[in-house]
Amino acid sequence: MNALPFPVPGEPDTPLFLAPQAGVSESPFRRLCRSFGADVVLTEFVSAEGIVRGSGRTASYLRFDEAERPIGVQIFGADPATMGEAAALVTETYAPDFVDINFGCPVKKVVKRNGGSGCLRDLKLVDGIIRAVDRATPLPVTAKIRSGFDEATRDPVAIGRVCQDAGARLVTLHPRTRADMYSGQARWEEIAALVRALEIPVIGNGDVRFGQDARAMRERTGCRGIMIARGSHGAPWLFHQSRAALDGEPVPGGPGLRTRFEICIRHAANAVAFEPDPEKAVREFRKHLGWYTKGIPDSRRLRQRLFRVRDLQEVREVLEGYLDGHAGQDGGGGTRGPGVLRTPRTLYRYDGAGEPTVATPGR
Ligand SMILES: Cc1cc2nc3c(=O)[nH]c(=O)nc-3n(C[C@H](O)[C@H](O)[C@H](O)COP(=O)(O)O)c2cc1C
Repeated sequence: MNALPFPVPGEPDTPLFLAPQAGVSESPFRRLCRSFGADVVLTEFVSAEGIVRGSGRTASYLRFDEAERPIGVQIFGADPATMGEAAALVTETYAPDFVDINFGCPVKKVVKRNGGSGCLRDLKLVDGIIRAVDRATPLPVTAKIRSGFDEATRDPVAIGRVCQDAGARLVTLHPRTRADMYSGQARWEEIAALVRALEIPVIGNGDVRFGQDARAMRERTGCRGIMIARGSHGAPWLFHQSRAALDGEPVPGGPGLRTRFEICIRHAANAVAFEPDPEKAVREFRKHLGWYTKGIPDSRRLRQRLFRVRDLQEVREVLEGYLDGHAGQDGGGGTRGPGVLRTPRTLYRYDGAGEPTVATPGR
């Protein structure tokens, strides 16, 4: 099996990556996901120009805790020299375990200036950026790509080969084009094709929502690792569930409401402690509050209250108040304490084919 370019503690045979996500994969969420079994994490994408300019806001995206390692810093930009300079600065100042280059971001503002997936319109530019970054840092350089800019240029294998030839030591594929944005289904068969074509490790990404999806992705693609983004929103335990599925173990159900809220509050407290402005931290945390409370009884009313909270104490009070008013509705896999995920009430068995089945509780 092709080795990863950085050591991963425990050497899992299919490491789980928390995806780079602007506004989401910040240090508090990365640490939380690590505690639930994410093996590798990445920062959100950071502008190479911002790094070189020494922008304070940009620097705040780069901070991480030693406990988060192995961690990759993801950078984006369209100018090879600036990208190289940014990689050198990141290496010197922050010393992450690897530098990842974003060739996937579909956002107009970034693409217009040829950054992110904009680069996929010009594979010479992809080549030039990777080479410049690789020359500028002794750290392993990795690339995150989409399948193409649009349907006409869709060719993940050609893009992956350019990355490999230019010096990328690992490639992650989100098999949609920029034009697809997030519509339709990720074409996992393109991950399989890339795995067959490249010598470097290929990480599969796209539409892993349940533990069983991680196992299915590995089986259908042979990917070296699995990267998860949206499935972890309000559900960092998805990493734990994915690990169980990959190991052929019963997949634990999600935690019950009380535990879910405890996790949410722990996450919020870390976010407030991390951000210099606590009010801003709580404002920015509202999206997580929405995710943690999705799909629970009376969630609309609860969210209306949560979207108005201004400090951590209010978050606690609203969630406690909800639990008091909904005693006995703790739908989920067991409720009390952090050990809940190890002793779930709801277990799923999955033998790798068809739908998972619910197993006898406690087995
Ligand atoms: C809110 C959000 C922010 C994202 N920001 C980034 C980013 O900064 N860099 C990047 O490479 N991809 C980014 N992505 C894309 C994800 O990393 C991932 O490729 C995509 O969501 C597909 O994986 P999923 O189906 O597990 O969500 C972002 C996705 C979301 C939902």
